Amino acid sequence: MEKVVADVEKVVFELFSERVEVKLTVPEDIAHGDFSTNVAMQLAGKLKQNPRALAQAIAGKLNYDTEVAGPGFINVRLSGLELTKLLDENWSETYGENNDGAGKTVIVEYPSQNMAKPYSVGHLRPGNQGWAARNLMLATGWKVITDNHLGDYGTPFGVWMTGFKKLSSDEALERNGVYELGRIYIETKKLLKTEEKSGGSELASAVQSWLLKLESGDAEAVKYSQKFNEVSLGHIHDVMERLRISTDYELGESFFAPKGKAAVEKYLAEGVFKKNADGSVVCELDEQGVDVPILVQKSNGAALYATTDLATMLYRANEFKPDRIIHAVGAEQKFYFEQLFAMAKKIGLGDIQMDHLWFGIIDQLNEDGTREKMSSRKGVVLMEELLDHAEAEARRVVEGREVSEDDVKKIALGAIKFSDFMADRRTNILFDWKTIFALTGFSGPYVQYATVRVNKILETNRDFELMSFESYDFEAEKSLVKLLLEYPDIVRHSANLLEPHRLAFFAHILAKALNQYYENNPVNSADDSTRSARLVVLKKVSQVMTHALSILGIEVPSRM
Ligand code: ARG
Repeated sequence: MEKVVADVEKVVFELFSERVEVKLTVPEDIAHGDFSTNVAMQLAGKLKQNPRALAQAIAGKLNYDTEVAGPGFINVRLSGLELTKLLDENWSETYGENNDGAGKTVIVEYPSQNMAKPYSVGHLRPGNQGWAARNLMLATGWKVITDNHLGDYGTPFGVWMTGFKKLSSDEALERNGVYELGRIYIETKKLLKTEEKSGGSELASAVQSWLLKLESGDAEAVKYSQKFNEVSLGHIHDVMERLRISTDYELGESFFAPKGKAAVEKYLAEGVFKKNADGSVVCELDEQGVDVPILVQKSNGAALYATTDLATMLYRANEFKPDRIIHAVGAEQKFYFEQLFAMAKKIGLGDIQMDHLWFGIIDQLNEDGTREKMSSRKGVVLMEELLDHAEAEARRVVEGREVSEDDVKKIALGAIKFSDFMADRRTNILFDWKTIFALTGFSGPYVQYATVRVNKILETNRDFELMSFESYDFEAEKSLVKLLLEYPDIVRHSANLLEPHRLAFFAHILAKALNQYYENNPVNSADDSTRSARLVVLKKVSQVMTHALSILGIEVPSRM
């Protein structure tokens, strides 16, 4: 498509000495050509000429089959062979990728779970969307640094330790790991609430005293803190491994809390931040267009979420010199990030492009057909349970066929992840076990299956010698080839807008086109030149499909 764009731009320049940016659209109805441009209408105003006449003039000079339609559209028609040649000229191992981000560094932050409790589905989207953002940045030439901003600060240790002494034991911790920690945390929080209501303070002071002991290096506190962190972090790693995502760094909130306090002191001294009468500290953001100041220190001097984020931004700026930072965090924190980014400008980090990659929540379908935020009676759906369940479903889908355990896992993940991209990330998505595994319709397994099938054909023909394809017309393959020609633009748009669902939509359309194609166009039984030509196209389809899915964090099984 770039070639066609360049040709039209060249003709326009030759005729009118105007540099224009030509946009090609792909008409829905093939009767309107393969590509269409409204460049003549764009020029008409500027040149004070009739758009249709301009269109005629441009079309007449183009070396393509063209027609002028409507008020001045130029429709361009290419033959299957011309399109295939175009594709072939642009083809490479990394087809679809570009260098838009060359020389620039981006930090992508995900999934940033909280350590106190087991990994829940609440952090499914940050992982999926963050991972896709990472891959989109890589595919567009950025230098990418990934960081898991672990939620490990605050009172977890104090609460854990107090609860552990009261409600648990080494054996129970050994046996149930992070689930025991989660149980302790939730129950102790409840007890603390009840205590507070009744005016008591025994447990609350125990929490504080354990935190102090930890700070002063008390042997028991240090030992258990290490133990708890090991259990919790080990669990996070296990689950991330199952999700097949990872990050380069794991700089959690607790790493930044002391640095944040120091930064607050510095900006207070410089007059950038303000101390309230009660001793708390805020950063006012009116000049940055945000009415509500952000609180960066509590009245008792304690660090807050924003204190750790203040230090995080400063540290990242110094350490990595990024041009951009992308935070994959849910929609609930939209206003918080607005404040944070305003604060970044105020403290001189305005040159760094800050993005909040936000997304809606996951709804589930109840048995009575109503929708609600995904949760179970117990309050959360655990990620490990979700994965176990998905794997069981995947096993059911391939029942009776010889499919490896690794492929089962790929199918399970394909189903879960693809559903994350079923709509623009900003909308809440509906998680429905029936549709996410449906082998027809918009599902990961459907797209995976289409790719497995094409790979099987390629595999069967592994030893078939391909010949020059010039003698074949590629009319039957035209719709596939056109889709492939669109792919680089899809990647670019997805990356520019941080909208990975565009890739999922594309993969789904390509899978549908592929399935239609098979119906009328056999490969193995075709004559040699046809067979060869078809294999050339299918090989490209496989590569693009695999590439698109891999940006979404989805792998193609070898069988299913
Ligand atoms: N741990 C937080 C949560 O689960 C997300 C952290 C987001 N990142 C940040 N820099 N504040 O809500």
